[in-house]
Amino acid sequence: MDGDYVYYVDCDPGIDDALALLYLLQTGVEVVSIGVVQGNVEVAVGAENTARFLALAGRTDIPISLGGHHPMIGEFWGGAAVIHGVDGFGGVELARSEAVFDDLSSSDRLVDLAHRYGTRLRIIALGPLTNIAAAITREPSLPHLVGNITIMGGAYQAAGNVTPHAEANIYADPYAAEHVFSVPWRDLLLVPLDITTQHMFSTADNQRLAASTDPLTQRVAEMVEFYLNACRPKYGGGECPLHDPLAVALAIDAVKLTDVRPCRLSVITGDTPDLGRTVVSMLDEDGAESRTRIALAGEPDLAPLLLNSIGC
Ligand code: BDR
Ligand code: CA
Repeated sequence: MDGDYVYYVDCDPGIDDALALLYLLQTGVEVVSIGVVQGNVEVAVGAENTARFLALAGRTDIPISLGGHHPMIGEFWGGAAVIHGVDGFGGVELARSEAVFDDLSSSDRLVDLAHRYGTRLRIIALGPLTNIAAAITREPSLPHLVGNITIMGGAYQAAGNVTPHAEANIYADPYAAEHVFSVPWRDLLLVPLDITTQHMFSTADNQRLAASTDPLTQRVAEMVEFYLNACRPKYGGGECPLHDPLAVALAIDAVKLTDVRPCRLSVITGDTPDLGRTVVSMLDEDGAESRTRIALAGEPDLAPLLLNSIGC
């Protein structure tokens, strides 16, 4: 069934982005392009991380495009060094890659792919929505051309992870997120902190990763060790949330939703302490033309599934 679909991944690597990519590549689905966006690190750093990651994965066949250096309005927010390290990979240095980046920007590439693949194309957005918003500005029909979009971002009833209510991907480009949420998509699934914090990865899980004989998996385990330590103050000892890997698992239908609700989404913008807060208005019924949903629970637990699928 998944053979029918092709995937465009937009990301800001980022330790959980790296774990998500490791998982996605192991599933064997067809990834036609990876776009990089500002977020956890500057876009140039994220692009270099992606190139080095794909080289070690033996997947230099997947084109990498560079996206927005700055959010739609304002300047780069400074990144998430406390969680991902200043280099985005928790100080774990991967070997340089000779990869040549795509001639097209991420937004232009996404528009090109939408025209080429139509509803076969699925978008997985693991970072701020800068590139997706830019693509819609360029091609307003994009939300209806592609099959669906799965977005890791936002917080509904859960607390935010940047401010009391704002989640990092939305906070890092709230105007782009508002733009993306304001248009009618054929099918949009938001994967907020409410569900990603139900799917945790433990120190014991990471020991299984670290025991792998695959060099890339070993490096990712070193990154996750940094992430586990960074998560300690917020989540207690020995566990970290699988934010981006869960979005991937839902996008490829490996985790099934047990609580998912139709809704309308918007983002608080402007000069307010609530900047970047995602506002979720639940709807009674799904619209016929546009389908926007928020994921609130899903099964099975992702950590064992992810470990099994990457052979750990
Ligand atoms: C999201 O923010 C980033 O730091 C992570 O990579 C994830 O995409 C979680 O709030
Ligand atoms: Ca991310």
